[in-house]
Amino acid sequence: MMESLVILKEEALAELAGVADAAALEAWRIKYLSRQGLLPAALEKIKDLPKEQRPEAGKISNQVKQAVQVAFDLKKETFSGATTGLPDDPTLPGRILPLASRHVVSRTIDDIVAIFRRMGFALATGPEIETEFYNFDALNTPADHPARNEQDTFYVDQAADPRQGRHLLRTQTSTVQIRTMENQKPPIRILAPGRCYRRDEIDATHGVFFNQIEGLVVDEGITLADLKGTMEYFFKEFMGADTRVRFRPHFFPFTEPSFEIDMARQGATVKGREWLEICGCGMVDPAVFQTVGVDAERYNGFAFGMGVERMAMIRHGIPDLRLLYENDIRFLRQF
Ligand code: DAH
Repeated sequence: MMESLVILKEEALAELAGVADAAALEAWRIKYLSRQGLLPAALEKIKDLPKEQRPEAGKISNQVKQAVQVAFDLKKETFSGATTGLPDDPTLPGRILPLASRHVVSRTIDDIVAIFRRMGFALATGPEIETEFYNFDALNTPADHPARNEQDTFYVDQAADPRQGRHLLRTQTSTVQIRTMENQKPPIRILAPGRCYRRDEIDATHGVFFNQIEGLVVDEGITLADLKGTMEYFFKEFMGADTRVRFRPHFFPFTEPSFEIDMARQGATVKGREWLEICGCGMVDPAVFQTVGVDAERYNGFAFGMGVERMAMIRHGIPDLRLLYENDIRFLRQF
């Protein structure tokens, strides 16, 4: 009797070792451990033994029962949800993975580009490492202009061609105006989004890099009315129909006349102010046309440049620029 119990245990364990999936394990369980299984049936027989053999038989049968149960439990763990990927209850709803979305700055760029595309603007790009020629000289910015100061601009090294001056991290996307006009004859209608770099102290409204979107239109008979109409249309599309814009005279080296565009929305103020300056613009200065070989007698043009982060902050009421680049998912997933 005792021998057959030990043999049964050996058989059960050997068979268990060969079990390869949850279904086979269940079949094994029914065969050995269930109420009609081989093990309970064998243990049943203990009570038929002569009285003096029963204590010893009880001890062995307990050991057998425990060994088989422990082996079964261990095997079952290897087939639990974690390894098969299946939950115990297949009717439970599935796990929903969080959806990723585009960064609010990228989406702002996309939205701005989409509006200008409808007005026939094509995308243009230029390098982020530029030269003094493209960033300043060709844009009619004299050598003593404060923006060229080493405290404001990141300089890299001397360019091989002395006419190019030093390499630098571009401080504005206006460089793309020059690169486009060098390579393309008018009519020109381009939009150039891109990163710019300035040696600013980092605070709520300044970082060492930011995104700008540059626009340039060159054709025969372009007037200030085209510039105003284009920008008014853009701001109403982007910020809402109740948006008002005003053109305030300003100075930029590469446009004449030049303006700063201020924007206001019904009932909205930022830090107590109703009007916010958000975009530089103007009519392309003939000196710029001359540098790139565009006939200034025949052609006119307008240009503009706006800060993307600024636009995103105004549109969504974001109080601090740094929030955009800290990559805190709790902030980013609001957009
Ligand atoms: N590049 C100027 C800046 O960074 C913005 C700007 C002003 C761009 C006037 C233009 C323009 O194209 O016409 O402050």
